[in-house]
Amino acid sequence: MMRTQVRLLVNGEEHDLWIRSDRTLLNALHDDIGLPDVRYGCNEGVCGTCTVLVDGQPTSACLMFAVQAEGHEITTLHGLADPAGELHPLQKCFLERGGAQCGFCTPGMLLTAAALKERTPDASRDDIRYELVGNLCRCTGYTAIVDSVEAWMHGEHCGDAGEQE
Ligand code: FES
Ligand code: FES
Repeated sequence: MMRTQVRLLVNGEEHDLWIRSDRTLLNALHDDIGLPDVRYGCNEGVCGTCTVLVDGQPTSACLMFAVQAEGHEITTLHGLADPAGELHPLQKCFLERGGAQCGFCTPGMLLTAAALKERTPDASRDDIRYELVGNLCRCTGYTAIVDSVEAWMHGEHCGDAGEQE
Protein backbone atom coordinates (compact mmCIF):
# COMPACT_ATOMS: atom_id res chain seq x y z
CA MET A 1 0.00 0.00 0.00
CA MET A 2 1.20 3.51 -0.80
CA ARG A 3 2.60 5.67 1.94
CA THR A 4 1.64 9.30 2.41
CA GLN A 5 3.61 12.05 4.08
CA VAL A 6 1.84 13.61 7.03
CA ARG A 7 2.90 16.26 9.51
CA LEU A 8 1.44 15.73 12.96
CA LEU A 9 1.50 18.38 15.67
CA VAL A 10 1.78 16.44 18.91
CA ASN A 11 2.28 18.11 22.30
CA GLY A 12 3.51 21.22 20.53
CA GLU A 13 6.10 19.43 18.37
CA GLU A 14 5.86 18.68 14.65
CA HIS A 15 6.51 15.13 13.44
CA ASP A 16 6.89 14.32 9.75
CA LEU A 17 5.96 10.74 8.96
CA TRP A 18 5.61 8.60 5.87
CA ILE A 19 2.66 6.44 6.71
CA ARG A 20 0.19 4.05 5.07
CA SER A 21 -3.28 5.51 4.72
CA ASP A 22 -4.77 2.67 6.79
CA ARG A 23 -2.59 3.44 9.84
CA THR A 24 -4.54 4.92 12.72
CA LEU A 25 -3.58 7.87 14.86
CA LEU A 26 -2.97 5.33 17.63
CA ASN A 27 -0.48 3.45 15.40
CA ALA A 28 1.29 6.71 14.57
CA LEU A 29 1.49 8.04 18.12
CA HIS A 30 2.42 4.79 19.86
CA ASP A 31 4.47 2.95 17.21
CA ASP A 32 5.90 5.60 14.92
CA ILE A 33 6.43 8.56 17.26
CA GLY A 34 7.01 6.29 20.26
CA LEU A 35 4.69 7.71 22.88
CA PRO A 36 4.06 4.98 25.48
CA ASP A 37 1.37 7.07 27.18
CA VAL A 38 -0.92 6.46 24.19
CA ARG A 39 -2.05 2.88 24.72
CA TYR A 40 -3.61 0.04 22.81
CA GLY A 41 -6.76 -1.40 24.36
CA CYS A 42 -9.71 -2.77 22.44
CA ASN A 43 -8.62 -1.10 19.20
CA GLU A 44 -12.26 -0.68 18.22
CA GLY A 45 -13.49 2.44 19.97
CA VAL A 46 -14.96 0.84 23.09
CA CYS A 47 -12.54 1.17 26.01
CA GLY A 48 -11.23 4.75 25.87
CA THR A 49 -7.68 3.65 26.72
CA CYS A 50 -6.25 5.29 23.60
CA THR A 51 -7.91 8.66 24.27
CA VAL A 52 -5.99 11.75 23.16
CA LEU A 53 -7.16 15.32 22.70
CA VAL A 54 -7.65 16.50 19.12
CA ASP A 55 -8.11 20.27 19.16
CA GLY A 56 -9.04 19.85 22.81
CA GLN A 57 -11.70 17.19 22.24
CA PRO A 58 -11.29 13.69 23.71
CA THR A 59 -10.90 11.33 20.76
CA SER A 60 -10.29 7.59 20.45
CA ALA A 61 -7.02 7.48 18.54
CA CYS A 62 -7.84 3.97 17.31
CA LEU A 63 -10.84 5.31 15.38
CA MET A 64 -9.04 8.07 13.48
CA PHE A 65 -6.66 7.60 10.59
CA ALA A 66 -3.33 9.32 11.08
CA VAL A 67 -3.76 11.22 7.82
CA GLN A 68 -6.99 12.73 9.18
CA ALA A 69 -5.08 14.25 12.09
CA GLU A 70 -2.91 16.50 9.95
CA GLY A 71 -3.61 20.15 10.65
CA HIS A 72 -5.02 19.43 14.10
CA GLU A 73 -3.48 19.91 17.51
CA ILE A 74 -2.95 16.60 19.30
CA THR A 75 -2.33 16.37 23.02
CA THR A 76 -1.34 13.22 24.87
CA LEU A 77 -0.72 12.79 28.57
CA HIS A 78 2.89 13.92 28.09
CA GLY A 79 1.53 17.20 26.79
CA LEU A 80 -0.60 17.65 29.88
CA ALA A 81 2.23 17.16 32.34
CA ASP A 82 4.76 19.86 33.23
CA PRO A 83 7.79 19.76 30.85
CA ALA A 84 10.03 19.99 33.94
CA GLY A 85 8.68 16.64 35.09
CA GLU A 86 6.36 17.95 37.82
CA LEU A 87 3.13 15.97 37.99
CA HIS A 88 -0.02 17.71 36.81
CA PRO A 89 -2.31 18.61 39.75
CA LEU A 90 -4.87 16.11 38.45
CA GLN A 91 -2.23 13.37 38.50
CA LYS A 92 -1.48 14.26 42.13
CA CYS A 93 -5.17 13.86 42.97
CA PHE A 94 -5.24 10.45 41.25
CA LEU A 95 -2.26 9.39 43.35
CA GLU A 96 -3.67 10.74 46.60
CA ARG A 97 -7.24 9.45 46.11
CA GLY A 98 -6.39 6.04 44.64
CA GLY A 99 -7.71 6.88 41.18
CA ALA A 100 -4.99 4.79 39.56
CA GLN A 101 -4.20 1.18 40.35
CA CYS A 102 -2.58 -0.63 37.42
CA GLY A 103 -2.63 2.70 35.57
CA PHE A 104 -3.61 1.25 32.22
CA CYS A 105 -6.73 3.39 31.81
CA THR A 106 -5.24 6.44 33.53
CA PRO A 107 -3.94 8.52 30.56
CA GLY A 108 -7.38 8.39 28.93
CA MET A 109 -9.13 9.23 32.18
CA LEU A 110 -6.86 12.21 32.83
CA LEU A 111 -7.22 13.65 29.34
CA THR A 112 -11.00 13.22 29.31
CA ALA A 113 -11.26 14.92 32.71
CA ALA A 114 -8.94 17.75 31.63
CA ALA A 115 -11.12 18.43 28.58
CA LEU A 116 -14.22 18.49 30.79
CA LYS A 117 -12.68 21.09 33.10
CA GLU A 118 -11.71 23.23 30.14
CA ARG A 119 -15.31 23.15 28.90
CA THR A 120 -17.14 23.11 32.24
CA PRO A 121 -14.92 24.40 35.06
CA ASP A 122 -17.62 23.86 37.68
CA ALA A 123 -18.62 20.36 36.56
CA SER A 124 -20.63 18.40 39.11
CA ARG A 125 -20.00 14.85 40.23
CA ASP A 126 -22.75 13.69 37.87
CA ASP A 127 -21.11 15.61 35.01
CA ILE A 128 -17.84 13.86 35.78
CA ARG A 129 -19.47 10.44 35.82
CA TYR A 130 -21.25 11.16 32.56
CA GLU A 131 -18.09 12.42 30.88
CA LEU A 132 -16.02 9.39 31.88
CA VAL A 133 -18.60 6.86 30.72
CA GLY A 134 -16.53 6.01 27.64
CA ASN A 135 -13.37 5.26 29.64
CA LEU A 136 -13.33 1.76 31.07
CA CYS A 137 -11.36 0.70 34.15
CA ARG A 138 -10.87 -2.89 35.25
CA CYS A 139 -9.39 -2.09 38.65
CA THR A 140 -10.83 0.75 40.67
CA GLY A 141 -14.60 0.37 40.55
CA TYR A 142 -14.65 4.01 39.35
CA THR A 143 -15.50 5.68 42.68
CA ALA A 144 -11.88 6.61 43.42
CA ILE A 145 -11.49 7.96 39.89
CA VAL A 146 -14.54 10.20 40.24
CA ASP A 147 -13.32 11.25 43.71
CA SER A 148 -9.94 12.20 42.23
CA VAL A 149 -11.39 14.24 39.39
CA GLU A 150 -13.90 15.91 41.70
CA ALA A 151 -11.18 16.94 44.17
CA TRP A 152 -9.12 18.50 41.38
CA MET A 153 -12.15 20.07 39.72
CA HIS A 154 -13.08 21.79 42.98
CA GLY A 155 -9.60 23.17 43.57
CA GLU A 156 -8.26 20.83 46.22
CA HIS A 157 -4.47 20.69 46.28
CA CYS A 158 -3.68 17.02 46.36
CA GLY A 159 -0.33 15.68 47.43
CA ASP A 160 0.65 18.77 49.38
CA ALA A 161 0.44 17.22 52.84
CA GLY A 162 4.04 15.99 52.84
CA GLU A 163 5.33 19.30 51.53
CA GLN A 164 4.03 21.32 54.48
CA GLU A 165 5.58 21.82 57.89
S1 FES B 1 -8.11 1.19 22.10
FE1 FES B 1 -9.21 2.86 21.29
S2 FES B 1 -11.11 2.84 22.34
FE2 FES B 1 -10.12 1.02 23.00
S1 FES C 1 -6.47 1.44 37.03
FE1 FES C 1 -6.27 -0.50 36.06
S2 FES C 1 -7.62 -0.39 34.36
FE2 FES C 1 -8.01 1.43 35.47
